Amino acid sequence: MNYRHAFHAGNFADVFKHAILIGLLEALKAKQAPFCYFDTHAGAGRYDLRGEEARKTREHEAGVMRLLQATRLPSALHIYLNLVRALNIGGSSHDLAIYPGSPLIASLLLREQDRAVLCEMQPDEAAKLKTLFVGDARVSVHARDGYAALSALLPPKERRGLVLIDPPFEAQENEFRAIEAALEAALSRWANGTYAIWYPIKLRQQTLPFQRWFGRNKIPKVLCAELLLHPDNSALRLNGCGMIMINPPWKFDRTLEELLPALRSHLAEGRFGQHRIDWLTGE
Ligand SMILES: C[S@@+](CC[C@H](N)C(=O)[O-])C[C@H]1O[C@@H](n2cnc3c(N)ncnc32)[C@H](O)[C@@H]1O
Repeated sequence: MNYRHAFHAGNFADVFKHAILIGLLEALKAKQAPFCYFDTHAGAGRYDLRGEEARKTREHEAGVMRLLQATRLPSALHIYLNLVRALNIGGSSHDLAIYPGSPLIASLLLREQDRAVLCEMQPDEAAKLKTLFVGDARVSVHARDGYAALSALLPPKERRGLVLIDPPFEAQENEFRAIEAALEAALSRWANGTYAIWYPIKLRQQTLPFQRWFGRNKIPKVLCAELLLHPDNSALRLNGCGMIMINPPWKFDRTLEELLPALRSHLAEGRFGQHRIDWLTGE
């Protein structure tokens, strides 16, 4: 386990993932009933963009920084930027010092009645996560394998909520097989939950078997959103990324139809830039 998210915090893939995450959480908040947010690969929760790792790659410059001056954005992106700005109050308006990971973004959006379960296997990252949420009774941090935790801890007592699966993909294509196995177990315990699974796009032939898995396993209501910044024909770089959503909120495809063009127009490199929104199985 060499992956450290600090090298990538705030890059285009984070903007895409976190904007969709916000859209999903806001939709859950449309009802008063409590819900549970379950993050299987939580990371450290908050990243120092002036730290050694982020300074080496500066990936946030082609990600979140591109949106800072943007106006008239879809609601999820507006909320996203307000959260990022609030964490950087007092700093320069042209630079950022702190970037929130998925656990921090979620915790800032959860209400009193909601709950978060965060899993992180890397001990140093898990320790940072625990420190970040000391004193927040709504949040529990588990230093353990997030895939195994799904089988152990689902369904949540609230019977409403969202599972985010955001692995590092160090195992390359084998990570897709690990997600499929974990989803099979999770769905057998909690078929009605909303699940969001982030994946990288390098070569198209690496993602197709994963996308076909949902139809083959007769998993209903699977929506897929993708953002491509480069053609999907090179194994050497992150050309784009996608999010598969099982049981998305009602009309969430419409939310994505507003969100993805805005992401594409702000994050595209040069003239290339594509997005797609597809139902992989029945709407
Ligand atoms: C892409 S990062 C997560 C970023 C985070 N979701 C966010 O959006 O801010 C993936 C994280 O998963 C952790 N990890 C790797 N394998 C894991 C596993 N089996 N269970 C839980 N965490 C794992 C890594 O240490 C890393 O911190």
